[in-house]
Amino acid sequence: MGKLGGKLGGNLAFKSGGQHRARALVSAAMIVLGIETSCDDTAVALVDSERHIRANLVLAQLDEHRPYGGVVPEIAARSHLDHLDTLVTRAMAEAGLDFDDIDAVAATAGPGLIGGVFVGVMTGKAIAAARSLPFLAINHLEGHALTVRLTSDAEFPYLLLLVSGGHCQLVAVEGIGRYHRLGTTIDDAVGECFDKCAKMLGLGYPGGPALERLAQGGDPARFDLPRPMMGRDTLDFSFSGLKTAVRHRIVDIGPDELRGESQTARDLAASFHAAVADVLADRCARALTVFQTRCGRSGPLVVAGGVAANQTLRARLSEVAAAGGTHLIAPPPALCTDNAAMIAWAGIERRRLDLRDPLDFAPRPRWPLGEVGGPVSA
Ligand code: KG4
Ligand code: ZN
Repeated sequence: MGKLGGKLGGNLAFKSGGQHRARALVSAAMIVLGIETSCDDTAVALVDSERHIRANLVLAQLDEHRPYGGVVPEIAARSHLDHLDTLVTRAMAEAGLDFDDIDAVAATAGPGLIGGVFVGVMTGKAIAAARSLPFLAINHLEGHALTVRLTSDAEFPYLLLLVSGGHCQLVAVEGIGRYHRLGTTIDDAVGECFDKCAKMLGLGYPGGPALERLAQGGDPARFDLPRPMMGRDTLDFSFSGLKTAVRHRIVDIGPDELRGESQTARDLAASFHAAVADVLADRCARALTVFQTRCGRSGPLVVAGGVAANQTLRARLSEVAAAGGTHLIAPPPALCTDNAAMIAWAGIERRRLDLRDPLDFAPRPRWPLGEVGGPVSA
């Protein structure tokens, strides 16, 4: 098996993995095994330093968490434990590689749900120890931040908008281990706002893709929703007011008119997208000028994290970048959401600088990007 879209272990389904098929006989300077278990996706990938993704498996735990409308940490950790070994074996087979072909092992070591992070880190350390390979403890956010260097020729520095389920940040990415945060959310992350609004509309989990589908054919101007922080001097975000406004609209409209994929539900979803797009556009436009002053370049603007898979938001950010005299770089949607190719790639970037981590590295449930180390000279 091993094809994305297949099944493994009962009701766990592979998500699309953004796979660039392995070239059969590519000779590469370095191949890294990547492991990602920080939330509800068990993911394993093999990536080489020539930017070929040899295997990229993502096992989503959607059915296990859906009844709860969100990720249950204990269930996630157990599921990672149940499936990670099999996934590693499967990825190696799919890539046609042996452990002798691997040059390093990289595992997400935080931030994230600590039970799951432990499972990935312990597995990564065990493989590294057994094969005498360097181990890399990767910051999940660094994985997102560097994905565009795997999928495009993006060079440092660039302005990163990182939008995921747990984060909403603007970061000047100046090199490996040189991440300068320009702004962040003062309350909810944007992905969290998508998920909660989707849940209120009865769309289930995960909310982002469902809300994006519902917005198709909706009128973005029908509902006047707030645009928190727009026009403010800082580069921070806020989404809890938007979430509350959506809740009030839902109560006002009543369940009958919102049932199924009614036009009203579509209009509300489209209006929600318009509000989020306006906020992100406003913050990014402002950040581009700050970035120019700091780094002496107009861009590029890079978007990463699960919410970056959203086509409406990508289109709007492209316009913002063009208006700011630069361009948008976004990974393919399947590499915006959590995956292990980005972790393996971060491992490659760090190994190129001769970085490695000790086998007693302690996983970190909280680990701001600004605290990620780099080369000593950086
Ligand atoms: O990066 P990610 O896979 O996991 C975290 O690190 O958090 O991001 C997950 C988040 C979820 O909130 C999910 O609803 C959101 O990304 N998301 C989307 C879309 N696809 C995933 N949000 C809006 N539109 C999408 N198409
Ligand atoms: Zn993520």
